[in-house]
Amino acid sequence: MSSNDLIVSLDIGTSKVRVIIGEISNGAINIIGVGSADSDGIRKGAIVDIDQTVQSIRSAIDHAERMVGITISEVYVGIAGNHIALQSNHGVVAVSNEDREIGEEDIERVLQAAKVVALPPEREIIGLLPKQFLVDGLTGIQDPRGMIGVRLEVECTIITGTKAAVHNLMRCVEKAGLRIAPSGIILMSLASGMMALTKDEKQMGTVLADIGAGATTIAIFEGGSLAAVSTLPIGGDYVTSDICYGLKTQTEHAEKIKLKYGCARVDDAASDVSFKVMRVGTNAEKEFSQPDLAAIIEPRMQEIFHMIRQEVKRLGYLDKLNGYVLTGGSVTMPGVLSLAQIELESSVRIAVPDFIGVRDPSYSSGVGMIQYVTKFVRYRGSAASPKRAAKSKAAAPAAAKPGVFEWFKNMFKEFI
Ligand SMILES: Nc1ncnc2c1ncn2[C@@H]1O[C@H](COP(=O)(O)OP(=O)(O)OP(=O)(O)O)[C@@H](O)[C@H]1O
Ligand SMILES: [Mg+2]
Repeated sequence: MSSNDLIVSLDIGTSKVRVIIGEISNGAINIIGVGSADSDGIRKGAIVDIDQTVQSIRSAIDHAERMVGITISEVYVGIAGNHIALQSNHGVVAVSNEDREIGEEDIERVLQAAKVVALPPEREIIGLLPKQFLVDGLTGIQDPRGMIGVRLEVECTIITGTKAAVHNLMRCVEKAGLRIAPSGIILMSLASGMMALTKDEKQMGTVLADIGAGATTIAIFEGGSLAAVSTLPIGGDYVTSDICYGLKTQTEHAEKIKLKYGCARVDDAASDVSFKVMRVGTNAEKEFSQPDLAAIIEPRMQEIFHMIRQEVKRLGYLDKLNGYVLTGGSVTMPGVLSLAQIELESSVRIAVPDFIGVRDPSYSSGVGMIQYVTKFVRYRGSAASPKRAAKSKAAAPAAAKPGVFEWFKNMFKEFI
């Protein structure tokens, strides 16, 4: 029997910190544990208070540990935010072998060369996405090993972020008593893209929009690869705040009403559904119908979709699109899909992770991270990882790192 490998993902969102424990058994993923805690210390997707964030991480981790009966020591953590940028780069090396046959070390050197890029002092590289190799000018090569040539080149997309944001994220995770796995900071858009999009969708030009609580993250996939990312500082919290003002009630009541009765379209709302609201400054309750509530929610959701469309236009992809895929907690609301289809004037679908226990769009990034890690970071790890034991140390132990070329080739399979 093969040993089982555990992978723990951590998604630090504006409304919730979510921990997912995935068990990898013979290459298949089982989600065996989930932990979540209300987020404090995060505003619009960015860490604004380290101590509060640490506490939220700790409670989400404790929750997941209790569920599975293990101690988590190592995690993969998602990164997102408007500090993320993509840039294309190109690496060139001379083939080192005397017989000019390209080997793994040439590939490693050319990838290192592609990482050499002039960055402003406040930025750092978070990841590298392959596009293609070139051997003596011949383009479109996915696997140059064994080919004969003098000049080996690679074209890549480099993912960068601000040092401050990366530092804050790492600090919070470490202060929560956890270790970040090697290559363990993962761009959440890439992870969600892996969970949510088909190969054809990535090829033909698709916008993946994650509408969370404090932020909406847009990732555009085209030509098989991640082409653009952007974060808008708007999400479900705005809807809740509109309900607060519209119904003159407190935030916590407004959030509960939204989750229970919210509907994104007045046309889809049921006029026979009504609820009572405790108004601020009085002891009196007032009754509202679901269409009353939808009349507050619809314009805000329209605005969010309008902003998504404008951003896609600004990024230059509006005319090249195949469609939109929506995810994130805010798309759970009834009526969102039909409203999006009208507002985005394109084909739209909602992506939900297809695993027991996490069938909710707010888990897309966390589940995507487990899939991403299984495929690119730890896919050879199962043989090298200790078995899971009750209350044992180290879920997600350090596994053998895949060879750089294996990693690269898998990337190609997924994205090209
Ligand atoms: N059934 C529902 N109806 C309406 N809104 C919902 C529903 N379920 C979740 N939400 C909203 O989804 C949002 C949370 O989504 P999600 O968990 O994806 O955000 P997050 O990751 O915490 O935040 P962010 O990604 O913005 O940093 C909240 O605003 C919540 O009110
Ligand atoms: Mg989120």
